[in-house]
Amino acid sequence: DKGTYPFYMLKEIDEQPNVMRKLSQVYLNDNGQPVINQDLLDALKAADRLYIVAAGTSYHAGLVGAKLFESLANVPTEVHVSSEFAYNQPLLSAHPFFIFLTQSGETADSREVLLNVNEQKFPSLTITNVPNSTLSREATYTLLLHAGPEIAVASTKAYTAQIALEAILAKALGEAVGQSAARDFDVKQQLALVANGMQALVDEKDDFDAIAKADLLHTPNAFYIGRGLDYAVSLETALKLKEISYVQAEGFASGELKHGTIALIEKDTPVIGIITQANTAALTRSNLQEVAARGAKTITIVTNNLAQDGDTIVLPAVDERLTALLSVVPGQLLAYYTSLNKGLDVDKPRNLAKSVTVE
Ligand code: F6R
Repeated sequence: DKGTYPFYMLKEIDEQPNVMRKLSQVYLNDNGQPVINQDLLDALKAADRLYIVAAGTSYHAGLVGAKLFESLANVPTEVHVSSEFAYNQPLLSAHPFFIFLTQSGETADSREVLLNVNEQKFPSLTITNVPNSTLSREATYTLLLHAGPEIAVASTKAYTAQIALEAILAKALGEAVGQSAARDFDVKQQLALVANGMQALVDEKDDFDAIAKADLLHTPNAFYIGRGLDYAVSLETALKLKEISYVQAEGFASGELKHGTIALIEKDTPVIGIITQANTAALTRSNLQEVAARGAKTITIVTNNLAQDGDTIVLPAVDERLTALLSVVPGQLLAYYTSLNKGLDVDKPRNLAKSVTVE
């Protein structure tokens, strides 16, 4: 039931602070230590490489997860699009472990990979929102997202839940293999900060409505740019915008713009820069200046500690590895209000189904 909300998507965006708190309750004890099945941890410890396999928004959550597993657990991690991996399996390491990210647990492309993985007798984990879903039943292990039903076709709270759970699992694995980075990472405190930060963002809906009306409502195209984790979020926020508002939106690695894409910049093309990583902040800012000099309308989504005069949207600061949990929210809301102001059916965009059960 969507209660007083006009669309499920807005309700689900608003639920994200509580989803963060719920995951903390379910998977972290009072001391902030992860509570993860020991057999699963042993299987992860035995792996020399993790392979995250997913589609769409879940793939984008995987891109963030890879960074968490590499930085907290020191285990090499690859992320693959299911439909590609299924028929073009790359050379694997000696002891691979597969992680399937899937809100629905029913995505046919991801299932095809899992069937291949099972045939090769490799261990696997499905991270899903739906208990007893097909991918949950067919993988060796399952972890549930506890995000509550996601009804809107455009995924929001499942994305942030997947990232939060990846952070908890990466800490658990990192501690199990004696990584000090994992020990020092207070995921419980960080998720509490994230929840409060998300709440502050969703409490400012009018701001996002205004930006959507001014800069996105009448444009045929728009770009999100960033580097590293900010690039990963650029891909997700661009997908949100294109799928529900039908604006041709793309996410780009900001350093790649000058290698071709900058040719698309015209007067008033919206370019949204995501800046949450200290080591690349200055570079992304200079890429934004390059497009501004060619007439682009630039919008910035920046963490507090990196903010400058004139930034559009300022995010509360959290651990740099978790900024995706906050930087995605403005993108979700900008997509929502662009779609709403166009009078579209936000929850049921054309040509799309909630769960994609054909390859
Ligand atoms: C985008 C979206 C899709 C799904 C994709 C995978 O908003 O919802 O891109 O993320 O179809 O679905 P799951 O996670 O159910 O495997």
